[in-house]
Amino acid sequence: MTFDAERIARPELAGLPVYDPGKSSGDIEREYGLSDCIKMASNENPLGPSPLAMDAVSKALPNIYRYPDGGARRLKEALSGKLGVPGESLLVASGVDEALDLVAYAFLAPGDEIVVGEPSFSSYELAALTMGARIRRVPLRRFDQDMSGMLAAVTERTKVVFVCSPLNPTGSIITAASLELLLSELPESVLLLLDEAYVEYVTDEDYFDGLSYVEQNPNLVVTRTFSKIYGLAGLRVGYAACDPQVAATLNKVKLPFNVNLLAQEAALAALDDAEHVRRSRELNTRGRDFIYNVLDELGLEYAATQANFILFRMDSFGEDYFERLLKQGIIARDGRVLGFPGWVRITIGDESQNLKLQQALRALAG
Ligand SMILES: Cc1ncc(COP(=O)(O)O)c(C=O)c1O
Repeated sequence: MTFDAERIARPELAGLPVYDPGKSSGDIEREYGLSDCIKMASNENPLGPSPLAMDAVSKALPNIYRYPDGGARRLKEALSGKLGVPGESLLVASGVDEALDLVAYAFLAPGDEIVVGEPSFSSYELAALTMGARIRRVPLRRFDQDMSGMLAAVTERTKVVFVCSPLNPTGSIITAASLELLLSELPESVLLLLDEAYVEYVTDEDYFDGLSYVEQNPNLVVTRTFSKIYGLAGLRVGYAACDPQVAATLNKVKLPFNVNLLAQEAALAALDDAEHVRRSRELNTRGRDFIYNVLDELGLEYAATQANFILFRMDSFGEDYFERLLKQGIIARDGRVLGFPGWVRITIGDESQNLKLQQALRALAG
């Protein structure tokens, strides 16, 4: 007997790719016979997790035979106290990725449309495609999302507009004025999802607080994560802040125990570890300036970033620029899969990783 899964599954799924997270350092070391590869590809925190979070995980280990709190009440209370958003406006999810899926699941049906920047973070499209929605892509203006272009792409079928700030993969931010433009011009029936996964790294003093717009704008959903500055990517925890009715809808469609017990304990502890956040932010700002200098010295073009990664141009090293960087023991993200062929996106590392990147680029430049 054969089971034709492709034919029997929802037609929207036919031809959908499986997300490719890139190769691990172990894979690359084996493939290229290297011994000390470093992965600077996934925008993880080079300082690792908060020590308080590690402690909290150890203490919670004996309890993992229990189900976690499906409502993540303590974490919501802590987030609410810290961010000034009421608990009923929060969805705690297994990473922003799950929050995006839940938005798609709750609000999108075949024939609906979403609007995204092109390129932008790939999960927006994947979540929407899974539900059979159509994607309207609005090319970036150089490194920035084109707000008026995105507004112009809205039709009566549009259900969600995705804006990412800082934007993966360029690191650019939107201004308060452009957020306000979107909020005032979008039809009330269109959800605006503002993904601020990297917001804690922003150093631009004019940057706004996305959460402060939630109360007045019932169609705004702001997403944030513990995967980046809090260093908990492996535990999968993030959240969305939105109108209580939207939150109630999202909470209806999530799995009953979507965020595991250790993740909740770690997130609670990490939220309290202001010192770890401060150190991570400072390390990132210093690393960013160091890498800017390296790129300037070598005459390599780059996008000014407000996040923990830098997109820079490498096609002057030839078509095989990505493999050449790999052979130097540096795993970056190839711009060819990010909509910037000829470029790479590199996660800002700690001092030794950034030095290794400097050596690698100098070696390639000869
Ligand atoms: C813009 C953006 N949003 C969301 C995520 C996913 O975050 P999480 O780990 O919380 O699912 C990422 C991860 O790289 C990202 O770059």
